[in-house]
Amino acid sequence: MKRINRPEWMDDPAATEADFEAALKDLEFLGRITFGARPTLAWLDALVKRTGATHLSVLDLGAGGGEMLRAVSAWGRRRGITLDLTGLDRSPWAETYARAAGTEGNWLTCDLFDVPAEQKYDVILCSLFTHHLSDDEMVRFLRWLPQHATLGWLISDVHRHWLPWIVLWAGTRLLRLAPMVIHDSTISISRSFVREDLEGLIEHAGISAELHWSFPFRWIVQGAPAAPTGR
Ligand SMILES: C[S@@+](CC[C@H](N)C(=O)[O-])C[C@H]1O[C@@H](n2cnc3c(N)ncnc32)[C@H](O)[C@@H]1O
Repeated sequence: MKRINRPEWMDDPAATEADFEAALKDLEFLGRITFGARPTLAWLDALVKRTGATHLSVLDLGAGGGEMLRAVSAWGRRRGITLDLTGLDRSPWAETYARAAGTEGNWLTCDLFDVPAEQKYDVILCSLFTHHLSDDEMVRFLRWLPQHATLGWLISDVHRHWLPWIVLWAGTRLLRLAPMVIHDSTISISRSFVREDLEGLIEHAGISAELHWSFPFRWIVQGAPAAPTGR
């Protein structure tokens, strides 16, 4: 299965608020039943243990309806970590949905590459986002991440594979999910990455990153902790 470049309806600037909102609602449902936040929260646990941080500024890119930010907010309350949360999404409909769903913190409606170069966050996250990027944009993004994240960054996105493609093709129709989700879900799988793609892109970007697979059918790419400085 080769990586394709077919456009998603979600990326169409003409997408209506009603269509986008229906898609975000169903994405939230799919994220919940596939434990989408779990690898991110486990990584945050490890980061806090490693750094001893008790306060974190967190940017979630391609934040959609804010589901991940709400999960991170609940995680912070459970762990006693104070958080300064920011969601970023290009779609003007994302913030409206996220706010109505109770997402706290700041929100930026812009393209990720419009974030000023000097703007830094302790932690940068993204979920189901990188498949929206072309290979060239992905290399640019992989270089962008360590420049903007001071403690760590994490990408969580689907694995391009025939099994999730079939499950989503059938499942989105059986469950009568939103038309945008029915259209975009299999395209998302076909636009995503396999291990070899990610390894090649990381090498091309010239950055240090770790890669691991997470159930069910996600790749996690994380900014490798800085190597300890020897004497
Ligand atoms: C599939 S949704 C993922 C939403 C959410 N993170 C989740 O896990 O369910 C991808 C989101 O990325 C946003 N997006 C795509 N390209 C973007 C870009 N270049 N800059 C900012 N947001 C972008 C889209 O508007 C969309 O809301």
